[in-house]
Amino acid sequence: MEFFEVLKARQSVRAFAPSPVEEEKLGAILEAARGAPSAGNLQAYEIYLVKADRLKRALARAALDQYFLAQAPVALVFCAHPARSERRYKERGARLYSVQDATIACTYAMLAATALGLATVWIGAFNDAAVRRAVGLPEDILPVAILPIGYAAEKPEPTSRRPLDEVVHTVE
Ligand SMILES: Cc1cc2nc3c(=O)[nH]c(=O)nc-3n(C[C@H](O)[C@H](O)[C@H](O)COP(=O)(O)O)c2cc1C
Repeated sequence: MEFFEVLKARQSVRAFAPSPVEEEKLGAILEAARGAPSAGNLQAYEIYLVKADRLKRALARAALDQYFLAQAPVALVFCAHPARSERRYKERGARLYSVQDATIACTYAMLAATALGLATVWIGAFNDAAVRRAVGLPEDILPVAILPIGYAAEKPEPTSRRPLDEVVHTVE
């Protein structure tokens, strides 16, 4: 798909078909995430790959009972690794860059999935401690976003956006 078509095609999907995600596609999505830019190229993020039903159900519960998450064949948990960025960038690295690194990697994965005909939804509403427990994250790893990936079982209505002239503030 052409890049701008990918941007247009991406929508949050909250119903997934049972069909699995092909391993080659999953590999391409993870490679896309790995190619994301990061502060100082420190790649201060970790990706946890979850396929087991019981773990996806635990994640869905941790995500305030968003059970559609468990329908998707794959869920990726993008996490910040603050200590990796803190070594060079101190407090700013720990607080901001590591979270941005994880966020950009997740965005790349999301767009790659769309380009491959797959559906996703960014899940940010969750209980950090419950996600930590579900996936067995170490104490120093902060969950930032959960990305269920699968084939869409719904075609959502397009969502609206604020007008550009409201969002963009031209400074002269
Ligand atoms: C930081 C962030 C957190 C989000 N958290 C959730 C969530 O927990 N559950 C959910 O269903 N959608 C979540 N979304 C998806 C948004 O609701 C969605 O992107 C927005 O309504 C625009 O719709 P679209 O993605 O279809 O364009 C989140 C999106 C972002 C960027």
